[in-house]
Amino acid sequence: MAIKEKETVGKILYTQEQIYERVEELAREIEKDYEGEELILLCTLKGAVVFMADMMKAINLDTMIDFIAASSYGSGTSTSGFVKVTKDVTMDLYNKNVLIIEDIVDSGTTLKFLKEYLQDRNPKSVKIATLLDKPARRTADVTPDYVGFTVDDLFIIGYGLDYDQRYRNLPYISYLDN
Ligand code: IMP
Ligand code: MG
Repeated sequence: MAIKEKETVGKILYTQEQIYERVEELAREIEKDYEGEELILLCTLKGAVVFMADMMKAINLDTMIDFIAASSYGSGTSTSGFVKVTKDVTMDLYNKNVLIIEDIVDSGTTLKFLKEYLQDRNPKSVKIATLLDKPARRTADVTPDYVGFTVDDLFIIGYGLDYDQRYRNLPYISYLDN
C-alpha cells in the first residue's frame, strides 16, 4: 500500500509584516466609514481568528465582538455548496452595525448565506471584511466590502486558513504546492 505523501507548503505570499501593514490601512478605512457608530466585529470560526485578532486591535472605534461558525467545506479542498451554522451568534444584532470578519471569499457560498442569515436579525447594516479574496472561483453573487489581498486560484494555507485543519498556525500566508 502506498504511503500518502505529505503535501508541501509553497512560497510565502504575504509575510506577517505585510499583513500588519494592510490591516492598518483597512482599519483606517473602516474607522472613516463607521465614524461615531458602534460596530460589532463578527468573526467567522475558525479561519478568521488570526485576522480577527489583528483587526480588533487595529480598529479604533466603539466595538464589540462575537463569533459564528458556518461550514460549507468537508475535509479536502472543494466546496460542497451546502452551508450550515454550527455555532450561532450570541449577541442581539437588532439595529447594530455588523462587520463580518472572514478569512477568504472563494465561491462566495458561505458569505452569501451568512449575509442573508444575519439580515433576519434586523441589524442596522451588514458588511464584509475579508483577509483574502479569490474572485476566480466566485459563483455566488456576493462582494466583500473590505479586502486585504486578492489571490490567484491557489489553495491558501496559513494565518488561520487550513488544509484538513492543519497549517492554521503558520504566521504568514502561503499555499499548497503539490
Ligand atoms: P466559499 O467557497 O466562499 O463559501 O468558502 C468557504 C470557506 O472555505 C472559506 O471561508 C474558507 O474557510 C474555506 N476556503 C475557501 N478557499 C480556501 C483556501 O484556498 N484555503 C483554505 N480554506 C479555504
Ligand atoms: Mg471561513
